[in-house]
Amino acid sequence: MDKKNLKDESILNHDDYKDQHGAVVPPLYQNSLFTFDSWDSIDQAFDHKTEAFIYSRILNPTVKVAEDKIAALCRGEKAKLCASGIAAITSAILHCVRAGDHIVTIKNIYGPTNKFINSYLKTKFNISSTFVDGRDVAEFENAIQENTTLIYLESPASLTMELQDLKAIAQLAQSRNIKTVIDNTWASPIFQKPLTMGIDIEVHSASKYLGGHSDVVAGVIISNKEILDSILMAEHELLGAKMAPFEGWLILRSLRTLPIRMRALMDNTMAVAKFLENDERVGKVNYPGLESFEQYDLGQNQMTGYGCLLSFELLTKDIEKIKQFVDSLQLFSLGVSWGGHDSLVYAPIISYLKELSPEQFDAMGINASLIRISVGLEHTDDLVADLHQALSRIA
Ligand SMILES: Cc1ncc(COP(=O)(O)O)c(C=O)c1O
Repeated sequence: MDKKNLKDESILNHDDYKDQHGAVVPPLYQNSLFTFDSWDSIDQAFDHKTEAFIYSRILNPTVKVAEDKIAALCRGEKAKLCASGIAAITSAILHCVRAGDHIVTIKNIYGPTNKFINSYLKTKFNISSTFVDGRDVAEFENAIQENTTLIYLESPASLTMELQDLKAIAQLAQSRNIKTVIDNTWASPIFQKPLTMGIDIEVHSASKYLGGHSDVVAGVIISNKEILDSILMAEHELLGAKMAPFEGWLILRSLRTLPIRMRALMDNTMAVAKFLENDERVGKVNYPGLESFEQYDLGQNQMTGYGCLLSFELLTKDIEKIKQFVDSLQLFSLGVSWGGHDSLVYAPIISYLKELSPEQFDAMGINASLIRISVGLEHTDDLVADLHQALSRIA
């Protein structure tokens, strides 16, 4: 059979890799360097630096097994696992820009990505940026300047879940010779394949679904060989945000169950979203899987499923009541991050108010009562019962 066209489940669960003992799981190569028999063999390895095992900062066999699987899953040519999602994001962005360039991105991107573009790149390298709402392709077109070299996307956005039209934006960018990067963490490579829609570089926080068990901080960049090799030999080698072998081994283990976990997470989240949508104690629910979601049709067009993160507004703006709701939850633990086996709750206002005034927060179009939940793999009856009892406390 032709193994080039395997489906996602088979890519992730079948290994051609075998060690000399036929071990069913690829071994953990917990080593920093590789030794060579002779001058000639190390000399040859340096001629193929992007493919050769020389030093684990660049390539490690355990990490590479996971990278090859992720590349195949995303229908890319190559993937590079990094020390964190933000390492993957900053490396991909740095690949696309030089001092004095301009970036177009969306206003509700992940906070540290926003800070990197809007503050770090601006102050250090005079790189300017325009932040658009992102729901209308024309906004991107209008924001493009002569020095625009990158359109950076996050679809769905991980707080308010707005989508961007990936095919249309990729087409626009290609026609202007502009690179596109997407943070595809929310949808996962199971439910959205941006590289097949013309996007140049895909990044993930692998700390979410790819790790899946809340025990790894990691990131990954996926693209074609030319772009990936350039990132490997510049941003990755020089900034050094590499993945440790054990983290690579954990990611590899978790990838086996990614498709079934994603389907279970989607079923659970849909049940929770429908409960919230129908509860009169709750305001707007932001979840692209709901038919009431403003961009439901676009989601259906570019995704084959939905992730586990949703946000909703409480009807009260009284901070004490919002606090009481969050503190009353028993199965949703209070914490950042998402995409693991465990359900989590977070109120964005907690961290936003450390940096912004309530007026600035409002100006971002984010309701102070916005609650974000990451639905886990517990039983939905229990999760719904927990939300119900916490809502009753503030009704
Ligand atoms: C959408 C999104 N992208 C990127 C990141 C950053 O990933 P990491 O925490 O692995 O650096 C996060 C983390 O929460 C995220 O939510």
